[in-house]
Amino acid sequence: MIAFSQCMMDDVWRQAMLLEMNIEASNYNNIRIVIADAKESNKTQIEQIQQFIDQKVDVLIISPNQSDSITPIAVEAYRKGIPTIIVDRKIGSDEYTTYVGGDSYEIGRIAGEYASSFLPENATIAEVWGTKLSSPAQERHLGFINGLKKKNVNIKTVVGNWRRGVAKKEVSQLENFEDIDLVYAHNDVMALGAREAIYERDSVLASKIIFLGVDAAFGKGAGLEAVANGLLTASFLYPTGGDQVIRVAMKILNKEQTEKKYILNTAVVEKNTARTLLLQSDQLINYQNRIEQQKRNIDMLFQKFSMLRHSLFVILSLLALLLFFVIYIFYINRKISKKNIQLHIKNRESEEQQQKLICLNEKIEQVTAQKLQFFTNVSHEVRTPLTLIVGPLEKWLKSAPESPMLTDLKLMKKNADRLMRVINQLLDFRKIENNKMGLNISQVDLVSFTENVKSLFEDMAASKEITYEFTSEMPACKVWIDQDKMEKVLTNLLSNSFKFTPAGGKIGIHILEDAGKVFISVRDNGIGISRDKIDKIFDRFYTEGTPSMGTGIGLHLTQEFIKMHHGQIVVDSVPNEYTLFTVELQKGKDHLIDCCSVEQPDVLYNSVPDTMNVELQDDLLTRKYNYTILLVEDDPDIQQYIQSEFSSNFTTLKANNGNEALAILRTENVSLVLSDVLMPELNGFELCRRIKSDADLSHIPVILLTALTDDSQRVFGISEGADDYIQKPFDIDFVKVKIIRLAGREKTASKEIYANNASRRYSRDCNRFKDRESG
Ligand code: FRU
Repeated sequence: MIAFSQCMMDDVWRQAMLLEMNIEASNYNNIRIVIADAKESNKTQIEQIQQFIDQKVDVLIISPNQSDSITPIAVEAYRKGIPTIIVDRKIGSDEYTTYVGGDSYEIGRIAGEYASSFLPENATIAEVWGTKLSSPAQERHLGFINGLKKKNVNIKTVVGNWRRGVAKKEVSQLENFEDIDLVYAHNDVMALGAREAIYERDSVLASKIIFLGVDAAFGKGAGLEAVANGLLTASFLYPTGGDQVIRVAMKILNKEQTEKKYILNTAVVEKNTARTLLLQSDQLINYQNRIEQQKRNIDMLFQKFSMLRHSLFVILSLLALLLFFVIYIFYINRKISKKNIQLHIKNRESEEQQQKLICLNEKIEQVTAQKLQFFTNVSHEVRTPLTLIVGPLEKWLKSAPESPMLTDLKLMKKNADRLMRVINQLLDFRKIENNKMGLNISQVDLVSFTENVKSLFEDMAASKEITYEFTSEMPACKVWIDQDKMEKVLTNLLSNSFKFTPAGGKIGIHILEDAGKVFISVRDNGIGISRDKIDKIFDRFYTEGTPSMGTGIGLHLTQEFIKMHHGQIVVDSVPNEYTLFTVELQKGKDHLIDCCSVEQPDVLYNSVPDTMNVELQDDLLTRKYNYTILLVEDDPDIQQYIQSEFSSNFTTLKANNGNEALAILRTENVSLVLSDVLMPELNGFELCRRIKSDADLSHIPVILLTALTDDSQRVFGISEGADDYIQKPFDIDFVKVKIIRLAGREKTASKEIYANNASRRYSRDCNRFKDRESG
């Protein structure tokens, strides 16, 4: 920062100085000039210089108002290490860095010599002084006096304080002007002020007087113009040195060597020179203006350039950012595609694994299905021989109540029954697994039904000395159930209780009704079930790990049968205290409509009562009937067994399959066909269908003997026109009674009517079967 302490600013010479400084400064782009105007006040100038000292400016330029007053502060600045340049006026000390300015004494001296060339002897000069205490005023006076060559010159002194107005006023106050030959003013503006004062009083005189000024500054109303216009005779160039000051200041700032004094040259400027100089100065000003304009343009261009540079920077930054993002996206993309490939590979691996698992699963399922099918086949295979064991056993038990073998026979019967129960459970389980189990619902009184089931275990209770009770909160309770399945449920629960209750224990059955539901509970005080096992007891094949605990399907089947009834079973137990199974059933049958329930075909069931008066039955079975029964059965043992059992009541014909049966039917007069279902060549269903669709044979009643406990197969049999079916294992007397009833009815009915009825029933059953299949 360059600080400039100006003693005053409002005159043309100092304006010119400022202009020159600015022009020079424009050559450098890293300097700042700060100017303080003291307005001709020493006090103000001292304060301003002090501030510059405090600011520790880089260079301090001082144009002192009055030498003596300003010297101390200028010296202080210098002493404080601030490079101090004194311009124009001087200070009374050498303690400054450098001085730049004109030589006022020399100017005065040249002016004195110049004036002498115009002056006569004893001439009168009016000398208009600048401020008396300023150095240029003193030096210009001294130089002038020394330069005067004329003797006896009379000098009138006027103090104009460097001001035009002051000079005019002071001169106008002179008593007379007539004797004045020449006016010498310390600057041009005071010379003009003096001329004005004289001119106003005597214009002719004004034109005769020689007017000399100092400065020859350019600018409006300044010396150069006044000389060119003839207002002043001549002026002595006192250069402002504005350009030189800046150059010296830059040298100092650049730490270059400077001289102690830069004295500026002077010259006389008369009318012609003034005109030339004026023109030149005009041109210079013109140039300067153009330079300034160029500079402004350059500045503007520079601004634009810097803006563009800035924009370019921004654009480049954005491009860099974009590039970064592109690279980043590319990188991420690569990463993602790598991950994708990995995932793809993993996916493929897991798919392959899944595929393997599916294959394995299929194999396991296949093997399981094969195993189960094997069990089912074995069960079927076992059931037929079992039938042949149970049948004769029952016969023995009935015919020889006094036999010494009775105990053994009973034991055999009991175990055969047990075996049959296990086989039936296995077959039931298979059906449930294959979703082939349906419900045969009928309305029963649950109280008497449960009492009946309860009675099956009376003997066991007695032999084990178990207190065995049945209680009901109501005398009767009608519910819709599948009797067979519900009997299995209760039988299973009671078997379990008897199995796990020690001798002398207690087993109780209780029925209660609440809010449209019926609860049957079986409670015992046996060994109980521990907490960790109680949740698993309904799981299939759960046997606590010991084969002695059974097949592990009894309770599972129980739960499944109850679920089919839309009921539920819960268990509660404390080991060695009690076990309580509670079966919950809903009343009514609305909840059973949508399920796979099959209502009992009442016509068939009512045609031959399953139970009858014992005497009546015995009476029926002792008679010999004139019925020819065609027995169609591929198993020779069963064939043999049935034939021998029938021999006392009916005539029996035998066929090994459906085809053989049809052949016999066409030649023999058969009263009734008793046929097995599963046979080679032509099975029982097909045989039935052929008989019932043949007008000559359709009147012959057909009873199907089925080992299949599958309800849909049974319905299928009926839909083929079968008049009845009997499920294996069968009670031979029961079969006989059914035959006697059906064949007897046939005898009394006319063939035509029966044929009509049979075909009507046949088509009705077909429709029922179709509905069931599509549903
Ligand atoms: C301007 C001025 C000039 C003169 C100089 C002397 O203020 O009066 O006319 O030459 O100062 O210091």
